[in-house]
Amino acid sequence: MTVKATYLGHATVLLEGSKKILIDPFLTSNPKAAAKPKELTGIDVVAVTHDHEDHFEDAFSICKREKAVFVGIHELAVAAQREGLTAEPMNIGGSVTVGGVRISMVHATHSSYKGHVAGLIFEIDGKTIYHMGDTGLTYDMKILPEFFDIDLAFVPIGDRYTMGPPSAAKAVEWCGAKKAVPIHYNTFPLIEVDPEDFRKRLPDGVVCVVEPGGSVKV
Ligand code: NI
Ligand code: MN
Repeated sequence: MTVKATYLGHATVLLEGSKKILIDPFLTSNPKAAAKPKELTGIDVVAVTHDHEDHFEDAFSICKREKAVFVGIHELAVAAQREGLTAEPMNIGGSVTVGGVRISMVHATHSSYKGHVAGLIFEIDGKTIYHMGDTGLTYDMKILPEFFDIDLAFVPIGDRYTMGPPSAAKAVEWCGAKKAVPIHYNTFPLIEVDPEDFRKRLPDGVVCVVEPGGSVKV
């Protein structure tokens, strides 16, 4: 079955297959967001990589409205449960299965207010999709192909807070992703980057530069 992955701007991604999964929703305060929170309906799972505002802003409110399951690191899941939400607590190295979708939490290196930042790998309808979260290049990515056959990766390239194009390209090479979509750039002046600089560092056809609102099917 085909999975449609839509880039909604910054680090927000919507996966649509047998389930609808919203990752790192930052829509209300993002002037470049391709959707408003109220436009996202039928969401089964809201998953977050960490609690910085530009990944977490709309997570609890959308979960509450959609009666979606919140998936995040233990500390954030407990906070969600205190808000009356249904949550699947987990931590780095582990996985949970929600509605037939396996979600694995992998290492990322960055900061957070609560818990730890993480990368998330979704196995849905026979496809494997990796959202790297906010991260620097970390050698742990190199071990991922032993456990996952990654069809598509969402890769932060904006520099300053995350990898820039050279290390982001190395991250794609190491994790073995067949396709990569750059994220977390050009939302604000502080993270202005030319995505071509990322695209040209990898073999032709690997990088799909997608404007907010655009989709990739795997
Ligand atoms: Ni962050
Ligand atoms: Mn961020």
